[in-house]
Amino acid sequence: MADPRARLQELSPGQRAAFARLVAKRRAIPDPDAADVSGFVLDTAASPDHAEVKAGYRRFYNTVSAQLDRDLYGDFSFFLNYGFASDGSPELATVPLPEHYINRNSVKLVLELVGDCPIEGRRVLDVGCGRGGTAHVLKTFFKPAHVTGLDLSPNAVAFCRRAHGDANTEFIEGDAERLPFPDATFDVATNVESSHSYPNIHRFHGEIARVLRPGGHFLYTDALSLQQTQAAIGFLQHVGLDVERDRDITPNVLLSCDQIATVRVQAFDAGNDQDLVANFLATPGSQVYVDLQSGRWTYRMLKLRKRSGAPGA
Ligand SMILES: C[S@@+](CC[C@H](N)C(=O)[O-])C[C@H]1O[C@@H](n2cnc3c(N)ncnc32)[C@H](O)[C@@H]1O
Repeated sequence: MADPRARLQELSPGQRAAFARLVAKRRAIPDPDAADVSGFVLDTAASPDHAEVKAGYRRFYNTVSAQLDRDLYGDFSFFLNYGFASDGSPELATVPLPEHYINRNSVKLVLELVGDCPIEGRRVLDVGCGRGGTAHVLKTFFKPAHVTGLDLSPNAVAFCRRAHGDANTEFIEGDAERLPFPDATFDVATNVESSHSYPNIHRFHGEIARVLRPGGHFLYTDALSLQQTQAAIGFLQHVGLDVERDRDITPNVLLSCDQIATVRVQAFDAGNDQDLVANFLATPGSQVYVDLQSGRWTYRMLKLRKRSGAPGA
């Protein structure tokens, strides 16, 4: 069994904060998902109960979304990610970022994630959709046949329905680790800065492999520890997804945080846990910012493709 302190270090800063709050009422419930079908055994013995972690995230993102709803610019607050800023290194977006577009860095993150992946006429699932920023970018620039957004937070889902819902765009409340869709439903799945919150991240990876059709793409970007990143890539390959591209965009994300995080803090009430908000926004000097800067954590952008004959094919 791993040293609990080492295990704690592996949690994201947000998870660590949630853990600190939950530890008082922690109950040692064995996790039935601890042993994965693949043989990858997840050490969950030192983790708080997964359901409680998820409930904590649901509460947190419900609060965030409710606060943004009350903000003057709340109707246009579609994104909850750190964003991507150009630093002169090669870029892959095929769509130029329009001048004067609001939330430019977050839009740019999605444009870089999509790159040259075909979206037009395809069915897309966005897991951890937040306030629908990825769905908005996909619909604005890429003509998907249909977009489904899924998120744990009912407030975020309610906002998405109001802001982005239409005949070809739906939003549902749900858990990334138990996707409520039949096998091989989607041509493309996206996941933007959300998976670090999932207590059993490999279960999510397995679900993505299941709901994608053979040949379908998984466009995936998040900040994880180096160890978690390596495990994630290994597991995704194991469940039938080939890595077509793997980019380290940590410098672009840190630059984006330098540019916008301090301003974004102003959208949150003073009554919030200030450490949590600082980590949520990765303000310079926050734990998550320092972890990314030091290289202990890495922000990766992956393009994967489901192999024929993989599970769910
Ligand atoms: C940092 S926000 C990113 C939102 C969005 N992808 C974006 O780029 O703006 C993380 C999102 O993941 C969602 N989330 C966290 N755990 C989840 C889970 N187990 N299943 C589905 N969504 C989850 C949160 O509710 C939140 O909306």
